[in-house]
Amino acid sequence: MAAGASTGWRVSVEDATRPIHLLLSCPNPIRHSALSLTVMTKLPVTCCDRCLAPLGLRLSVRPRPAPRACGWFGHAAGRGAAGSAIARYRADGDAGMNIVPTMRTRPLILNVDDDAANRSVKSRSLLMGDMEVIEGEDGTSALALIAERQPVLVLLGVNPPDVGGLEVCRRIKAEWPDIVVIQIAATSTSAAEKIVGLESGADCYLTAPVDPLELIAVTRAMLRLRQAEGLAREASERYRMIVESAVDCAIFTCGLDGSVTSWNTGAQAVLGYRAEEIVGEPSARIFMTEDIAADVPDNEMRAAHQGLSVRSERWHRRRDGTRFWSSGRMVALRDRRGTVAGYLKILCDRTVEKDARDALEALKQELEHRVAERTRDLAAANEHLRAEIVEREKAGEQIRQRQKMEALGQLTGGIAHDFNNLLTAILGGLEVTRRRIEDPRGLRLIDSSISAAQRGAKLIAQLLAFARKQNLRVEYLSLNTLVYEMRELIEQSVGAAVRLEYNLAADVWPVLADANQVRTAMLNLVVNARDAMPDGGVLRIATENTCVAVPEADLAAGEYAALSVRDDGIGMPPEVLERLFEPFFTTKDVGKGTGLGLAHVYGFVRQSGGGVRVHSVVGEGTTITILLPRASGTDVETAAPIDNPR
Ligand SMILES: Nc1ncnc2c1ncn2[C@@H]1O[C@H](COP(=O)(O)OP(=O)(O)OP(=O)(O)O)[C@@H](O)[C@H]1O
Ligand SMILES: [Mg+2]
Repeated sequence: MAAGASTGWRVSVEDATRPIHLLLSCPNPIRHSALSLTVMTKLPVTCCDRCLAPLGLRLSVRPRPAPRACGWFGHAAGRGAAGSAIARYRADGDAGMNIVPTMRTRPLILNVDDDAANRSVKSRSLLMGDMEVIEGEDGTSALALIAERQPVLVLLGVNPPDVGGLEVCRRIKAEWPDIVVIQIAATSTSAAEKIVGLESGADCYLTAPVDPLELIAVTRAMLRLRQAEGLAREASERYRMIVESAVDCAIFTCGLDGSVTSWNTGAQAVLGYRAEEIVGEPSARIFMTEDIAADVPDNEMRAAHQGLSVRSERWHRRRDGTRFWSSGRMVALRDRRGTVAGYLKILCDRTVEKDARDALEALKQELEHRVAERTRDLAAANEHLRAEIVEREKAGEQIRQRQKMEALGQLTGGIAHDFNNLLTAILGGLEVTRRRIEDPRGLRLIDSSISAAQRGAKLIAQLLAFARKQNLRVEYLSLNTLVYEMRELIEQSVGAAVRLEYNLAADVWPVLADANQVRTAMLNLVVNARDAMPDGGVLRIATENTCVAVPEADLAAGEYAALSVRDDGIGMPPEVLERLFEPFFTTKDVGKGTGLGLAHVYGFVRQSGGGVRVHSVVGEGTTITILLPRASGTDVETAAPIDNPR
């Protein structure tokens, strides 16, 4: 790095994979009046040109597998032409730089005066102050030199001989507004003349003769001012560029009262207002009516005032009244003392994203709805399936029950028939023998044998009934009439603890059945109901017409006259219900029940073409209903209605 070494600049590069930020570091740049730098690296160099340009530095970068570079290089971070180094980079084997100095670090001053002696005095002072000086003796040569050399400051005698001093000043400021002009007036200059001079654009007005040190000090002060102005302008320009380049985002400021104070291009694009239309107007204008009513604009400013960075996601209103979904942020703007001077608001149009999000949400909800619907359907199907299974199991159970009853019936029927024949023979024999015996003791024996045989015959008759093999004397009957006839017997059978209630349908259909069997069956049901209510209760006897639409286990579809006996007694558990009609099934104590009562009812009703329904709940009571097929075509005498109170 020959150039660097020769000028005392040293360069190093630290990171070979990222853009390099070069920093200028120079002990006293004013001594190096014309440095030209060329930096060669295989890496891109960022920000150098822009940062170094105000200092008169220029960097050119080209990639090359460079010899190893080492040393120092830096860039002034904005303060002073040769600011301190802020960072340093170490050399990487691949990267290298050549530096050609082109920098002018001493400020160039143009000293214009038609008086050669005066001019020379001032030039010496400036050189003493470490400034580079060029001289002009009149207005014309001064303007030419300015055009050619671009000095940073012009020291202007008031009245150059050719063009007047004020005119020169005006022209300089018109063409090169950045150049500082110090006018030096004669001692006799009046205050009014000085004012005119300053009004013409002079930055400073000194009165001759000027003390050399004062001249240096004032010149330096003006240069500092110029540099500060330049930097401020640059910063403001940078800020403006940033704000204006954000074309998708509305960036605007407002004062403490909420009125808009600045409005960027993005704000115009997003909200539709031009700056001149909205600046000075209340910023609340861009809010939706409901948000204004809810005090949202003021609330945001209050929160920002308290130092919060207020984020918002809401609808805003454009100039044309349409709305857009915004994502925004508001912060307070503070002056140097930290006092809130206004607010900065940034709003980005997020309508597209929101629409996409909403569409996604709607889709999600639709999907969830569909899933829920499908789940409901599946649950219903499942429920239906379960019900079907239960129904099938029930049907299967009924079939098994019927088959069991059939088998029992056949077995019982066969045995009962044989026993019936035997008993008939025994009874016949006993009757004949009785007629031939005269001995009283023998007669008593024969009588007790005959009565035992008769009891046996009764049992056999019940078994035959269960097996549906008894001889029935079928006739047209009214169930109401039978109930009416049995009334007294029923009352006697149930006893005083049981209250009887009758509910007989007036138009109950006639049936074709054996009246004696119906009576026996009714009595069996009544006695069972009474036994189920050992502490008394209500026993209800009812008749009604019933239509069976769907065939049941033991019942074909059709029309039936029904007789039901209901109690509010102990009820039956499933294991009793299951065996209810089996012959000899009883839960009663030995000697108290044969277990043939319901077997008889079942057998007789089935033999008559009807069926039996049982409904029982443990602890609540039982209803047993016998249904006999409706007989058609014959009038039957109907009994008078029975009064319930007994
Ligand atoms: N209304 C009812 N309430 C509660 N249980 C009953 C009812 N009717 C019948 N049962 C039960 O059914 C069983 C069988 O009744 P079923 O009439 O066939 O015989 P039983 O009453 O025990 O004897 P039997 O009728 O020969 O005197 C009874 O032992 C009883 O357990
Ligand atoms: Mg019984």
